[in-house]
Amino acid sequence: MKQSDLHDLLIKDFDYYKEGKNAQYIPALSQVDPKQLGIALYNLQANELQTCGIPEKSANVRFAIESISKVPVLLLAINDNGLDGVFSHVDAEPTGFSFNSLLNMQIEQRKYPLNPFVNQGAIVVNSLLKGKNSDERFARILDFMKEIFNDNDITLNEEVYHSESKTGDINRSIAYYMKGNGIWNGDVEDVLDSYFKQCSVNVNAIDLANLGALLANGGVAPWNGKRIVSEESATIVKSLMLTAGLYDESGDFSMRVGVPTKSGVGGGLMSAVPGKYGIGIFSPAIDKPGNSVAGMKLLHDVVQELNIDIFA
Ligand code: DON
Repeated sequence: MKQSDLHDLLIKDFDYYKEGKNAQYIPALSQVDPKQLGIALYNLQANELQTCGIPEKSANVRFAIESISKVPVLLLAINDNGLDGVFSHVDAEPTGFSFNSLLNMQIEQRKYPLNPFVNQGAIVVNSLLKGKNSDERFARILDFMKEIFNDNDITLNEEVYHSESKTGDINRSIAYYMKGNGIWNGDVEDVLDSYFKQCSVNVNAIDLANLGALLANGGVAPWNGKRIVSEESATIVKSLMLTAGLYDESGDFSMRVGVPTKSGVGGGLMSAVPGKYGIGIFSPAIDKPGNSVAGMKLLHDVVQELNIDIFA
């Protein structure tokens, strides 16, 4: 896309941040400047990365990955255990409930968490990783993230981690509920520690575009031709992103935008358009379900401009 056309779309959508609010339940996220909108587009056909931001360097700004971490951790768990080894512990059903809901399991008396992207499922998936404790699992997560984001500089944001851990009572309830009801049999505090850490890794929009491009490219990193995950896992993860990537806004988003996408409450969006594009977006103000407001508007407009809605 012409750089000036992309910039025009950012100008058009920038002010939508006013309709959202930074995540308030994690104090370290509430303090991030909401007036930022950055995008990175990885064009697979041209093998080219394009960035744009208001302020200019917003695509390089580091922010907490939050729930987008559920994608790399799921991919690593599949690498460790195979597809059956993961999906014998977690279902793959969309949810009309919020990402940290307990109700869905209670109402339906489910045997397994609904899907790997709601917190129940993500906690179980983290516990499936090889590694005997939180430190070992998190060291493997960080190494894997460096590889799939093509970024050796990603680190744990200690402030966000302490914030997550201190205020993580709902996640504790979810984990103890699952344990108490025989849905899962892990070490609650140890697994929550690596879960809070996976959510607190700092990334930027370029990292997210790289992961999107790897998924769009069937699991092969387009920057060096190396296969990182199987074609089957890339396909499965994209379909889960479409049905559950934006929680209880996934259906509406798929209808309006039409590309597999995963969100995080840090304001990130990561999209994979099969065979065509990886897209990373950052804008910290989110709506009630937990998705970046200006980010979703920008994604919608970019998808329209490039004509890459997968259903169109
Ligand atoms: O578990 C939590 O509450 C957060 N650390 C992650 C939630 C999240 O990003 C949901 N996303 N949109």
